[in-house]
Amino acid sequence: MRALPILLLSLFCAGALAAPPKKAPARPAAAQEAPAAAAPAAAHAPSAEEDKGREINGVCAACHGEFGQGGKRGEYPRLAGQRAAYLKDQLKSFRARKRINLPMYPYTQERELPDEDIEAVSEFLAAIQLPTKPPEFKDSDDALTRLLAMDKVMIIPRVEGDIENGKKVYQKECFACHGRTGRGRGKFPMLVGQYSNYLKKQVDAYLKGERPHDEEGTTGILNRITEKDIQDILAYLTTLQDIETAEAK
Ligand code: HEC
Ligand code: HEC
Repeated sequence: MRALPILLLSLFCAGALAAPPKKAPARPAAAQEAPAAAAPAAAHAPSAEEDKGREINGVCAACHGEFGQGGKRGEYPRLAGQRAAYLKDQLKSFRARKRINLPMYPYTQERELPDEDIEAVSEFLAAIQLPTKPPEFKDSDDALTRLLAMDKVMIIPRVEGDIENGKKVYQKECFACHGRTGRGRGKFPMLVGQYSNYLKKQVDAYLKGERPHDEEGTTGILNRITEKDIQDILAYLTTLQDIETAEAK
């Protein structure tokens, strides 16, 4: 018990060090004030549940971005379009400290983020679609409309690697859980459209035993393929971004 204050203190310090970036400087003031206009294209009126999810996401946005697009080149992962069941799982394991995440620890405590909030924010984020191509604008679209729409376009840059080999290994070893086109399935996460360096960091954590991957733990699939295969898979995943998501859901 004696150790607790020290633990809390060190958590606090770590949290302070990883404090969220104050403001995205590139965004014009008007865009900051108009989150409603930038909400995921919803033809229907937002439900109470959606409003709640959007409100909770206001806290997450400081790090993960207003549309869940992530930030700082993958230091903060993308959450938009991720499987809802997976998001809920991860938030619960951050809260239970089964997955260690110091920056997020204070935000995931029961008092800050009860189960019903996890539910709402996960469904909200999972429903956000980020296009991989700029939209076609109408002549009548003004500059702000264009800017906001362009802000949501998300393309992960290609990475070095042997795409053919990446495809071969991925379609043999990973597709069963992460889906043919990398969109995930059930509670298995989407990998396509996620920052490559974030994915690499997770693979490293799995290999070091800091985060369990599949049910086989440290003898699972990631431990049985080479480092080059991993790199090639990351390269291959960046080539799948334009493929429609029909298969995934
Ligand atoms: C202070 C910054 C910060 C805030 C605020 C924050 N996060 Fe995070 N979050 C992170 C970091 C950093 C990671 C990546 C941790 C890692 O590398 O393992 C992360 C990871 C995640 C993941 C795991 C993603 C994956 O692909 O496995 C989820 C889910 C998540 N955050 C949801 C949220 C939600 C929901 C909120 C708001 C309630 C939130 N975060 C608030 C910093 C933050
Ligand atoms: C048996 C099912 C299964 C297979 C096969 C599998 N994975 Fe996973 N993968 C998972 C699960 C489950 C998670 C989430 C683990 C957790 O809860 O932390 C995951 C998470 C990941 C993540 C982290 C995603 C994130 O957003 O943090 C990466 C990266 C990953 N897998 C890569 C791979 C690669 C590459 C392969 C093939 C070589 C592969 N996986 C094969 C089940 C699988």
